[in-house]
Amino acid sequence: MSSVLVTGGAGFIGSHLVDRLLEEGLHPIVVDNLSSGDVKNLNPGALFYQQSVQDSEMMERVFQLHKPEYVFHLAAQSSVAVSTKDPIMDCETNIKGMLVLLEKSVKYGVKKFIFSSTGGAMYGDKIEIIPTPENLDPHPVSPYGISKYCAEMYLQFYHRENNINYIILRYGNVYGPRQDPNGEAGVVAIFSKRMLNGEDVNIFGDGNCIRDYVYVKDVVEANIKALQCDAVGTYNIGTGHGTNVNDLFAALSRITNYQKEPIYTAPRKGDVRKSILDCSKANQELGWKPKVSLQEGLVMTVEYFKGL
Ligand SMILES: NC(=O)c1ccc[n+]([C@@H]2O[C@H](COP(=O)([O-])OP(=O)(O)OC[C@H]3O[C@@H](n4cnc5c(N)ncnc54)[C@H](O)[C@@H]3O)[C@@H](O)[C@H]2O)c1
Repeated sequence: MSSVLVTGGAGFIGSHLVDRLLEEGLHPIVVDNLSSGDVKNLNPGALFYQQSVQDSEMMERVFQLHKPEYVFHLAAQSSVAVSTKDPIMDCETNIKGMLVLLEKSVKYGVKKFIFSSTGGAMYGDKIEIIPTPENLDPHPVSPYGISKYCAEMYLQFYHRENNINYIILRYGNVYGPRQDPNGEAGVVAIFSKRMLNGEDVNIFGDGNCIRDYVYVKDVVEANIKALQCDAVGTYNIGTGHGTNVNDLFAALSRITNYQKEPIYTAPRKGDVRKSILDCSKANQELGWKPKVSLQEGLVMTVEYFKGL
């Protein structure tokens, strides 16, 4: 049976991916330093190493011992807001971490490298085409978007020089159970928890920022398709539909029966105004499309937070 490395497997998306890989009969090996992840998320069926992907010596041991055939690289500093406050940490995690993994992947003959990148923070604000396809030139406006783009370019360099097969998945705004409601990213988780607790909810800016919200199980399915396909390339993973924060607030208010008005505060640095992803390439080449509607996904997410 294939051995599969999942970096960031104790995080929000990574932990759902680990569950699914185990269901598929694969053997996920998780590397996570728990900087934003939580062992509570982690399926006990996975082998777990608490360490940083930036630590070359420690990663060497993991590769030597397990010789993973596939790498899902999700470990990251994953918040736009944090990246604007600490771009050096963002760079070290998202760029150096990528390089360490690529070096090991080449040395140990990894068959395919599947990278979790961003669609939401990749294309920037001056976008001529919405929904945006992958072939538009990236113009990231945050250190997070820049580091993810840089990591993508390193991956393509290793593909050219070392023939490493890869899939880059550029996600929209992923939401669902296990997303951290106390972090700086993850508006659905933050709103859901605060609404269920009857607390005030802040909206940054005027609430007209538009995002493409995609449910976590659909994102996991895209990773599985990426594992199974023969393609090499970059794919947007979203829904092709945009929702503004005011409408998201209204939808979650209805589901949680929240009665308060939002509190509008200053916009945040690095946030783009509008992001909607054209996902037709993933549909055509990976056979992937999202199955969960925003309403269904929000209901499932609120149910999860009710049970905590
Ligand atoms: N959630 C989204 O909306 C979204 C959108 C686009 C892209 N992504 C990308 O998807 C991936 C997963 O995101 P998520 O939402 O699950 O975030 P998350 O913060 O829940 O998961 C990231 C995981 O990586 C771990 N980690 C961080 N630095 C590490 C390091 N140096 N070494 C080892 N582990 C480390 C964290 O502890 C955490 O468990 C990230 O690469 C993120 O950039 C997420």
